[in-house]
Amino acid sequence: MGRLDNRVALVTGASRGIGAATVKLLAAEGARVCVNYHQSEAAARKVVAEIEAAGGKAIAVQADACDKAQVEAMVAKVSAAFGPVDTLVINASMSFPTVPFLEYPWDAFEKKLVGELKAAFFAARAVVPGMVEKKSGAIVAISSGLSRHPGDGFIAHTTAKSGLDGFMKSLAHELGPKGIRVNVVAPGLTLTDATSRLPEAAKEMSARSAPLRRNGLPEDIAGAVLMMVSDDARFVTGAYISASGGRLML
Ligand SMILES: NC(=O)c1ccc[n+]([C@@H]2O[C@H](COP(=O)([O-])OP(=O)(O)OC[C@H]3O[C@@H](n4cnc5c(N)ncnc54)[C@H](OP(=O)(O)O)[C@@H]3O)[C@@H](O)[C@H]2O)c1
Repeated sequence: MGRLDNRVALVTGASRGIGAATVKLLAAEGARVCVNYHQSEAAARKVVAEIEAAGGKAIAVQADACDKAQVEAMVAKVSAAFGPVDTLVINASMSFPTVPFLEYPWDAFEKKLVGELKAAFFAARAVVPGMVEKKSGAIVAISSGLSRHPGDGFIAHTTAKSGLDGFMKSLAHELGPKGIRVNVVAPGLTLTDATSRLPEAAKEMSARSAPLRRNGLPEDIAGAVLMMVSDDARFVTGAYISASGGRLML
């Protein structure tokens, strides 16, 4: 018996990094899963193959998380294959330049803000009607510790993830009476492609400053997501869970 038996989960941006680790863990716990990808088809197919080899059920679906029509088509495909989505993880990573405020081009700032919110809004909009019908559902968004604690060069990321946090709290408020829980998991520095170009010294400093004395692995964040979407967290909604080895304490 898995903790997510009979569940149908969609993880956006699940071809690599935190999304890939998360979708594999949710499938290992019994959920039938959609591995959403944008560019990395081969990586997404590899994730599906690994899940199937372990006895799970998965499909890979290409969609730009920022494109409403593509997200709607993806959700329709998942529903046709497995039934309505009752578990959504908003994870797709919106890249951004890391430059100081006075050098930040508005276009890049706007692209990050709008992209982060579109990716959350369209995915939630596409799956919530099915959750309302079932009177149950769990949504988790992957924010960032930087939404609460800014860092040099991260002004667009901090602003966008703060917006995401507010959006998720509003959803938790509005959807709670309909049986839908909405939470945020906020990773600290996690070793993925997105952070592979950070200088080693910066990674070491981050690890040293965390009480658990290391940076995160994608599997660490996946564990926190599993906890929040599973019934273990059945009375938890509107929460912001820092998954940072204690680097961010609230
Ligand atoms: N790594 C960290 O230290 C860290 C810390 C805090 C928060 N986070 C957050 O954690 C999440 C995952 O980050 P990560 O580090 O795992 O990133 P990553 O390893 O770079 O992977 C990014 C994933 O996002 C997908 N993606 C990008 N644009 C997309 C789009 N328009 N539509 C659909 N999918 C898209 C990519 O898909 P394709 O390759 O198929 O295009 C890929 O699967 C992000 O929300 C990020 O902000 C990460």
